[in-house]
Amino acid sequence: MSAAEETPAASARPARGARTAADRLAPSMDLAALIGDPDTRIVVCCGSGGVGKTTTSAALALAAAEAGRRVVVLTIDPARRLAQSLGLVELDNEPRPVDVPGAAGELHAMMLDMKRTFDDIVVAHSTPERAEQILANPFYQTLSSSFAGTQEYMAMEKLGQLRAGDRWDLIVVDTPPSRSALDFLDAPNRMSRFLDGTMIRLLIAPSRAGFRFASAGFLFFSRIISKVLGGQLLRDISAFVTALDTMFGGFRERATATYELLRRPGTWFVVVATPEPDALREASYFVDRLSAEGMPLAGLVLNRTHPPASTALSATRAEAAAEAIGDDGEPAGALAAGALRVHAERMTLAAREQRLADRFTSAHPEVGMRTVPAAAGDVHDLDGLRVMAEALTGPDGDTPTGVPRTRVLPARRA
Ligand SMILES: Nc1ncnc2c1ncn2[C@@H]1O[C@H](COP(=O)(O)OP(=O)(O)OP(=O)(O)O)[C@@H](O)[C@H]1O
Ligand SMILES: [Mg+2]
Repeated sequence: MSAAEETPAASARPARGARTAADRLAPSMDLAALIGDPDTRIVVCCGSGGVGKTTTSAALALAAAEAGRRVVVLTIDPARRLAQSLGLVELDNEPRPVDVPGAAGELHAMMLDMKRTFDDIVVAHSTPERAEQILANPFYQTLSSSFAGTQEYMAMEKLGQLRAGDRWDLIVVDTPPSRSALDFLDAPNRMSRFLDGTMIRLLIAPSRAGFRFASAGFLFFSRIISKVLGGQLLRDISAFVTALDTMFGGFRERATATYELLRRPGTWFVVVATPEPDALREASYFVDRLSAEGMPLAGLVLNRTHPPASTALSATRAEAAAEAIGDDGEPAGALAAGALRVHAERMTLAAREQRLADRFTSAHPEVGMRTVPAAAGDVHDLDGLRVMAEALTGPDGDTPTGVPRTRVLPARRA
């Protein structure tokens, strides 16, 4: 077990008579009911980088469309082949219909164009001259395409816009690959803190009426900043923020409105993780944070698990059997030994994944779970999404090994 895996919660021995992680089963999560419920209007898939947020969003949206709902999935930076199979050939701020043969409902997909969303806000909330000034500002151009948190913020903006139109039964929202899962929830605040920040205030202060005191100090400060950042950049920032100042109230208002939207009944968060210590630790933070913010959590999708083909033979027995067959030189024997070893490895991996899942459940016994087995290759077309959708929304227990979908391996008896 790696050091990273060995959290205090895991190493602490349970008190005598206490239930252990292994016998506390995660409640199952009924995603079919959730996405089929007319009252469910927004599903947000969040989690740390690379765990399958975009794929899960697309699979859930597909399942909802097949269940008869009018769905739009807002994807962020989907892998190219997945984008292609959703009919998304370029960044586009408008939902495009996806051809899903036989679907009772409709599936539309869009790829968030962060810069254009930002531009649209500027245009919508300032005079034409001022908008032109802002859009041409080099600092704006950098901020709108690369400021940490801009993408998260723009995703929220776009969600607000989609929801306002009332054209959709269900909006499935993918979230950006953040360094930390929490960046997504923090983005609106960070954005308004940035605009409200001390540094920014100082930079724009001279252009504001009534700023008289400490100007010597400010000049000194701005000279240093100019040295560090370059005079032109400072002038750009200053001009940009002054221009943006008129929109500032609007930013804050909309950030608050989207926050409220996320807390309204009808919104659900699905946290996605892979059975790895880091991803589950992030998922844990996320679950705590959502609960602290009063945001409704549907549960955890444990993606890319490795259930064995059969759970009847333990890793130890498979290893022992392979050992017993040995290298007798017979091709059939070598094949059997090889298969047994593969099975043993798979059982060991699954046991490790199950331990990690149990540890999560032990810390969050109320959080529902769904495991989604790793597909053989990438999930990049409608068929792949359908297989994933089935794992996400199919009846519990109806798996090839008969193991409930909340688990990788059968539960140990208490
Ligand atoms: N159940 C699965 N089986 C096999 N491959 C999967 C599965 N889920 C996702 N993938 C693959 O893993 C990769 C990452 O998935 P995805 O892009 O959905 O993750 P993400 O969380 O959106 O990543 P990012 O944080 O970079 O946006 C993709 O290549 C995808 O096809
Ligand atoms: Mg993604």
